[in-house]
Amino acid sequence: MRAKPFLKWAGGKSQLINDIEKALPKEFTSQKFTYVEPFVGSGAVLFWILENFPNVEKAVINDINADLTNTYKIIASKPEQLLLQLEKYQKKFHSFEHDVDGRKEYYYDQRKLFNTRATPKVTQAALFIFLNRTCFNGLFRVNPSNGFNVPIGSYIKPTICDVDNIMAVSKVLERVEILTGDYKQTLLHTEKPAFFYFDPPYKPLSKTSSFNTYAKDEFGDNQQIELRDFCKQLDTLDHFWMLSNSDVKGKDVNDNFFDDLYGEFNINRVWAKRNINANPDKRGKLTELLITNYDHLKVEYA
Ligand SMILES: C[S@@+](CC[C@H](N)C(=O)[O-])C[C@H]1O[C@@H](n2cnc3c(N)ncnc32)[C@H](O)[C@@H]1O
Repeated sequence: MRAKPFLKWAGGKSQLINDIEKALPKEFTSQKFTYVEPFVGSGAVLFWILENFPNVEKAVINDINADLTNTYKIIASKPEQLLLQLEKYQKKFHSFEHDVDGRKEYYYDQRKLFNTRATPKVTQAALFIFLNRTCFNGLFRVNPSNGFNVPIGSYIKPTICDVDNIMAVSKVLERVEILTGDYKQTLLHTEKPAFFYFDPPYKPLSKTSSFNTYAKDEFGDNQQIELRDFCKQLDTLDHFWMLSNSDVKGKDVNDNFFDDLYGEFNINRVWAKRNINANPDKRGKLTELLITNYDHLKVEYA
Protein backbone atom coordinates (compact mmCIF):
# COMPACT_ATOMS: atom_id res chain seq x y z
CA MET A 1 0.00 0.00 0.00
CA ARG A 2 1.43 3.35 -1.05
CA ALA A 3 0.78 6.28 1.26
CA LYS A 4 -1.56 8.90 -0.17
CA PRO A 5 -3.32 11.98 1.27
CA PHE A 6 -5.60 11.05 4.17
CA LEU A 7 -7.69 14.22 3.79
CA LYS A 8 -9.63 16.13 1.19
CA TRP A 9 -8.07 19.59 1.07
CA ALA A 10 -8.74 22.75 -0.92
CA GLY A 11 -5.98 23.15 -3.50
CA GLY A 12 -4.88 19.49 -3.23
CA LYS A 13 -2.11 19.01 -5.75
CA SER A 14 -2.69 15.43 -7.05
CA GLN A 15 -3.64 16.84 -10.47
CA LEU A 16 -0.38 18.70 -10.90
CA ILE A 17 2.05 15.90 -10.07
CA ASN A 18 2.99 15.08 -13.68
CA ASP A 19 3.95 18.69 -14.28
CA ILE A 20 5.79 18.92 -10.98
CA GLU A 21 7.76 15.77 -11.87
CA LYS A 22 8.88 17.31 -15.16
CA ALA A 23 10.04 20.44 -13.35
CA LEU A 24 12.09 18.82 -10.56
CA PRO A 25 15.78 19.76 -10.40
CA LYS A 26 17.90 17.31 -12.46
CA GLU A 27 19.95 16.51 -9.34
CA PHE A 28 16.88 15.45 -7.38
CA THR A 29 16.79 11.86 -8.61
CA SER A 30 20.43 11.05 -7.93
CA GLN A 31 21.62 13.06 -4.91
CA LYS A 32 20.65 12.97 -1.26
CA PHE A 33 18.12 15.71 -0.55
CA THR A 34 16.09 17.18 2.28
CA TYR A 35 12.57 17.79 1.00
CA VAL A 36 10.78 20.78 2.57
CA GLU A 37 7.09 21.58 2.15
CA PRO A 38 6.22 24.75 4.11
CA PHE A 39 2.47 24.82 3.20
CA VAL A 40 1.79 21.10 3.36
CA GLY A 41 -2.04 20.88 3.46
CA SER A 42 -3.03 17.32 2.61
CA GLY A 43 0.48 16.55 1.36
CA ALA A 44 -0.25 15.21 -2.14
CA VAL A 45 3.26 16.11 -3.30
CA LEU A 46 4.86 15.04 -0.01
CA PHE A 47 3.51 11.49 -0.20
CA TRP A 48 4.39 11.16 -3.87
CA ILE A 49 7.97 12.28 -3.12
CA LEU A 50 8.35 9.99 -0.11
CA GLU A 51 7.10 6.99 -2.08
CA ASN A 52 9.15 7.64 -5.22
CA PHE A 53 12.44 9.14 -4.06
CA PRO A 54 14.30 6.94 -1.55
CA ASN A 55 17.23 9.38 -1.80
CA VAL A 56 15.09 11.82 0.20
CA GLU A 57 16.31 10.75 3.61
CA LYS A 58 14.59 13.50 5.52
CA ALA A 59 11.60 15.74 4.94
CA VAL A 60 10.37 18.79 6.85
CA ILE A 61 6.71 19.75 6.63
CA ASN A 62 4.88 22.72 8.06
CA ASP A 63 1.43 24.27 8.14
CA ILE A 64 -0.10 27.14 10.09
CA ASN A 65 -3.17 24.99 10.82
CA ALA A 66 -2.43 23.41 14.21
CA ASP A 67 -5.39 20.99 13.99
CA LEU A 68 -3.92 19.67 10.75
CA THR A 69 -0.36 19.27 12.01
CA ASN A 70 -1.60 17.63 15.23
CA THR A 71 -3.24 15.02 12.99
CA TYR A 72 0.03 14.37 11.13
CA LYS A 73 1.84 14.01 14.47
CA ILE A 74 -0.72 11.56 15.84
CA ILE A 75 -0.64 9.44 12.66
CA ALA A 76 3.15 9.34 12.99
CA SER A 77 3.22 8.43 16.68
CA LYS A 78 -0.04 6.67 17.64
CA PRO A 79 -1.68 5.22 14.53
CA GLU A 80 -3.29 2.26 16.31
CA GLN A 81 -4.97 4.42 18.96
CA LEU A 82 -6.20 6.77 16.26
CA LEU A 83 -7.62 3.91 14.19
CA LEU A 84 -9.56 2.57 17.19
CA GLN A 85 -11.34 5.91 17.52
CA LEU A 86 -11.92 6.26 13.78
CA GLU A 87 -13.45 2.80 13.65
CA LYS A 88 -15.84 3.76 16.41
CA TYR A 89 -16.86 6.99 14.63
CA GLN A 90 -17.31 5.20 11.31
CA LYS A 91 -19.53 2.48 12.81
CA LYS A 92 -21.69 5.05 14.52
CA PHE A 93 -22.00 7.35 11.48
CA HIS A 94 -22.87 4.45 9.17
CA SER A 95 -25.54 3.27 11.63
CA PHE A 96 -27.54 6.38 10.65
CA GLU A 97 -27.85 5.20 7.04
CA HIS A 98 -31.66 5.52 7.20
CA ASP A 99 -31.87 8.23 9.84
CA VAL A 100 -31.04 11.71 8.55
CA ASP A 101 -31.87 13.45 11.83
CA GLY A 102 -29.74 11.07 13.87
CA ARG A 103 -26.84 11.52 11.45
CA LYS A 104 -27.10 15.33 11.68
CA GLU A 105 -27.27 15.31 15.44
CA TYR A 106 -24.21 13.06 15.65
CA TYR A 107 -22.23 15.29 13.21
CA TYR A 108 -23.02 18.51 15.08
CA ASP A 109 -22.22 16.91 18.45
CA GLN A 110 -18.83 15.79 17.11
CA ARG A 111 -18.20 19.27 15.71
CA LYS A 112 -18.99 20.82 19.08
CA LEU A 113 -16.64 18.42 20.83
CA PHE A 114 -13.86 19.19 18.32
CA ASN A 115 -14.34 22.92 18.90
CA THR A 116 -13.71 22.58 22.64
CA ARG A 117 -10.10 21.73 21.64
CA ALA A 118 -10.01 20.15 25.08
CA THR A 119 -10.09 16.44 24.29
CA PRO A 120 -6.85 14.37 24.22
CA LYS A 121 -4.70 14.94 21.13
CA VAL A 122 -5.56 11.55 19.66
CA THR A 123 -9.28 12.36 19.95
CA GLN A 124 -8.76 15.80 18.37
CA ALA A 125 -7.00 14.11 15.44
CA ALA A 126 -9.77 11.50 15.08
CA LEU A 127 -12.43 14.24 15.18
CA PHE A 128 -10.49 16.24 12.58
CA ILE A 129 -10.48 13.27 10.17
CA PHE A 130 -14.13 12.49 10.96
CA LEU A 131 -15.20 16.07 10.17
CA ASN A 132 -13.10 16.16 7.00
CA ARG A 133 -14.82 13.00 5.74
CA THR A 134 -18.36 13.98 6.65
CA CYS A 135 -18.56 17.77 6.26
CA PHE A 136 -19.62 19.67 3.15
CA ASN A 137 -17.01 19.07 0.40
CA GLY A 138 -14.22 18.35 2.90
CA LEU A 139 -13.84 22.07 3.49
CA PHE A 140 -11.94 23.47 6.44
CA ARG A 141 -13.28 26.85 7.48
CA VAL A 142 -13.23 28.52 10.88
CA ASN A 143 -14.91 31.57 12.38
CA PRO A 144 -12.86 34.40 13.95
CA SER A 145 -12.60 32.50 17.23
CA ASN A 146 -11.19 29.43 15.43
CA GLY A 147 -14.46 27.47 15.66
CA PHE A 148 -14.82 25.00 12.78
CA ASN A 149 -18.13 25.97 11.17
CA VAL A 150 -18.61 23.84 8.02
CA PRO A 151 -22.06 22.20 7.83
CA ILE A 152 -22.67 18.49 7.34
CA GLY A 153 -22.12 17.09 3.82
CA SER A 154 -24.37 14.69 1.96
CA TYR A 155 -22.28 11.53 2.41
CA ILE A 156 -24.17 8.58 3.85
CA LYS A 157 -21.46 5.93 4.21
CA PRO A 158 -18.11 7.67 3.70
CA THR A 159 -14.85 5.91 4.54
CA ILE A 160 -13.73 7.44 7.81
CA CYS A 161 -11.39 4.69 8.95
CA ASP A 162 -8.93 3.77 6.17
CA VAL A 163 -6.67 1.36 8.06
CA ASP A 164 -4.26 0.53 5.23
CA ASN A 165 -3.61 4.12 4.27
CA ILE A 166 -3.21 5.41 7.83
CA MET A 167 -0.63 2.66 8.49
CA ALA A 168 1.17 3.44 5.20
CA VAL A 169 1.19 7.16 6.03
CA SER A 170 2.46 6.45 9.53
CA LYS A 171 5.37 4.45 8.06
CA VAL A 172 6.54 7.15 5.63
CA LEU A 173 6.17 9.88 8.28
CA GLU A 174 9.10 8.23 10.13
CA ARG A 175 11.36 10.27 7.83
CA VAL A 176 9.46 13.52 8.41
CA GLU A 177 9.81 16.38 10.91
CA ILE A 178 6.42 18.05 11.47
CA LEU A 179 6.26 21.78 12.31
CA THR A 180 3.37 24.09 13.14
CA GLY A 181 3.41 27.79 12.36
CA ASP A 182 4.56 30.30 9.77
CA TYR A 183 6.34 28.88 6.72
CA LYS A 184 9.53 30.88 7.34
CA GLN A 185 10.52 28.72 10.31
CA THR A 186 11.25 25.78 7.98
CA LEU A 187 14.58 27.34 7.06
CA LEU A 188 15.84 26.84 10.62
CA HIS A 189 15.20 23.09 10.30
CA THR A 190 16.77 22.57 6.91
CA GLU A 191 20.06 20.96 5.91
CA LYS A 192 21.73 21.40 2.57
CA PRO A 193 21.07 20.41 -0.14
CA ALA A 194 17.35 21.05 0.24
CA PHE A 195 14.50 21.24 -2.22
CA PHE A 196 11.52 23.38 -1.16
CA TYR A 197 8.10 23.00 -2.75
CA PHE A 198 5.80 25.94 -1.97
CA ASP A 199 2.07 25.68 -2.48
CA PRO A 200 0.78 28.80 -0.69
CA PRO A 201 -2.85 29.90 -0.65
CA TYR A 202 -3.36 31.01 -4.25
CA LYS A 203 -3.91 34.63 -5.19
CA PRO A 204 -7.63 34.73 -6.02
CA LEU A 205 -8.48 35.14 -9.72
CA SER A 206 -11.39 37.39 -8.79
CA LYS A 207 -12.69 39.02 -5.65
CA THR A 208 -15.51 36.51 -5.32
CA SER A 209 -13.40 33.40 -5.90
CA SER A 210 -11.33 33.78 -2.78
CA PHE A 211 -10.47 30.40 -1.29
CA ASN A 212 -8.18 31.95 1.27
CA THR A 213 -10.11 30.63 4.20
CA TYR A 214 -7.81 27.81 5.35
CA ALA A 215 -6.71 29.58 8.50
CA LYS A 216 -7.65 32.64 10.46
CA ASP A 217 -4.80 34.62 8.99
CA GLU A 218 -5.32 36.07 5.58
CA PHE A 219 -2.76 35.52 2.81
CA GLY A 220 -3.01 38.65 0.67
CA ASP A 221 -0.72 40.44 -1.79
CA ASN A 222 1.68 41.59 0.93
CA GLN A 223 2.13 37.99 2.04
CA GLN A 224 2.76 36.94 -1.59
CA ILE A 225 5.50 39.60 -1.76
CA GLU A 226 7.05 38.45 1.54
CA LEU A 227 7.05 34.90 0.22
CA ARG A 228 8.96 36.03 -2.88
CA ASP A 229 11.52 37.68 -0.56
CA PHE A 230 11.88 34.42 1.34
CA CYS A 231 12.39 32.55 -1.95
CA LYS A 232 15.11 35.08 -2.89
CA GLN A 233 16.81 34.41 0.43
CA LEU A 234 16.76 30.66 -0.24
CA ASP A 235 18.21 31.31 -3.68
CA THR A 236 21.18 33.18 -2.24
CA LEU A 237 21.67 30.28 0.20
CA ASP A 238 21.86 27.86 -2.80
CA HIS A 239 18.71 25.92 -1.99
CA PHE A 240 16.47 24.68 -4.81
CA TRP A 241 12.81 25.68 -4.84
CA MET A 242 9.62 25.34 -6.84
CA LEU A 243 6.45 27.35 -6.22
CA SER A 244 2.95 27.02 -7.61
CA ASN A 245 0.34 29.77 -7.78
CA SER A 246 -2.62 30.92 -9.83
CA ASP A 247 -1.92 32.50 -13.22
CA VAL A 248 -3.61 35.86 -12.82
CA LYS A 249 -2.37 36.87 -16.29
CA GLY A 250 -4.46 34.07 -17.83
CA LYS A 251 -7.54 35.90 -16.57
CA ASP A 252 -6.36 39.42 -17.36
CA VAL A 253 -3.44 39.84 -19.82
CA ASN A 254 -2.49 43.12 -18.20
CA ASP A 255 -2.05 41.59 -14.75
CA ASN A 256 1.71 41.12 -14.36
CA PHE A 257 1.71 40.58 -10.59
CA PHE A 258 3.64 37.30 -10.60
CA ASP A 259 5.59 38.00 -13.81
CA ASP A 260 6.99 41.10 -12.10
CA LEU A 261 7.53 39.48 -8.70
CA TYR A 262 9.40 36.46 -10.07
CA GLY A 263 10.90 38.13 -13.18
CA GLU A 264 14.43 36.92 -12.38
CA PHE A 265 13.35 33.26 -11.98
CA ASN A 266 11.91 30.62 -14.37
CA ILE A 267 8.16 30.96 -14.84
CA ASN A 268 6.36 27.99 -16.44
CA ARG A 269 2.68 27.95 -17.31
CA VAL A 270 0.96 24.57 -16.97
CA TRP A 271 -2.60 23.55 -17.74
CA ALA A 272 -4.81 23.31 -14.68
CA LYS A 273 -6.75 20.08 -14.99
CA ARG A 274 -9.74 21.04 -12.93
CA ASN A 275 -12.61 23.16 -14.09
CA ILE A 276 -13.40 25.67 -11.43
CA ASN A 277 -16.37 27.06 -13.30
CA ALA A 278 -19.51 24.94 -13.12
CA ASN A 279 -21.02 26.69 -16.14
CA PRO A 280 -19.69 24.80 -19.23
CA ASP A 281 -19.85 27.92 -21.43
CA LYS A 282 -17.45 29.73 -19.16
CA ARG A 283 -15.16 26.75 -18.64
CA GLY A 284 -12.13 28.17 -20.45
CA LYS A 285 -8.86 26.30 -20.06
CA LEU A 286 -6.91 27.75 -17.17
CA THR A 287 -3.19 27.81 -16.60
CA GLU A 288 -1.31 27.78 -13.31
CA LEU A 289 2.23 28.88 -12.55
CA LEU A 290 5.14 26.62 -11.65
CA ILE A 291 8.09 28.84 -10.82
CA THR A 292 11.61 27.53 -10.13
CA ASN A 293 14.97 29.06 -9.20
CA TYR A 294 16.89 26.55 -11.35
CA ASP A 295 16.93 25.46 -14.97
CA HIS A 296 15.44 22.11 -15.68
CA LEU A 297 15.09 20.18 -18.92
CA LYS A 298 12.94 22.41 -21.05
CA VAL A 299 9.63 20.66 -21.63
CA GLU A 300 6.49 21.65 -23.45
CA TYR A 301 3.95 23.13 -21.09
CA ALA A 302 0.88 25.18 -21.81
C1 LIG B 1 -2.98 25.58 -1.22
S1 LIG B 1 -2.97 24.88 0.42
C2 LIG B 1 -1.77 23.60 0.19
C3 LIG B 1 -2.39 22.41 -0.50
C4 LIG B 1 -1.44 21.22 -0.55
N1 LIG B 1 -0.44 21.38 -1.57
C5 LIG B 1 -2.21 19.92 -0.84
O1 LIG B 1 -1.85 19.14 -1.74
O2 LIG B 1 -3.20 19.68 -0.13
C6 LIG B 1 -2.18 26.09 1.41
C7 LIG B 1 -1.88 25.70 2.88
O3 LIG B 1 -1.13 26.76 3.47
C8 LIG B 1 -1.47 26.90 4.84
N2 LIG B 1 -1.05 28.26 5.27
C9 LIG B 1 -1.68 29.45 5.11
N3 LIG B 1 -0.91 30.47 5.55
C10 LIG B 1 0.25 29.91 6.00
C11 LIG B 1 1.46 30.45 6.57
N4 LIG B 1 1.64 31.75 6.76
N5 LIG B 1 2.45 29.57 6.90
C12 LIG B 1 2.28 28.25 6.72
N6 LIG B 1 1.16 27.69 6.19
C13 LIG B 1 0.16 28.51 5.83
C14 LIG B 1 -2.96 26.59 4.87
O4 LIG B 1 -3.36 26.14 6.15
C15 LIG B 1 -3.10 25.49 3.76
O5 LIG B 1 -3.06 24.20 4.31
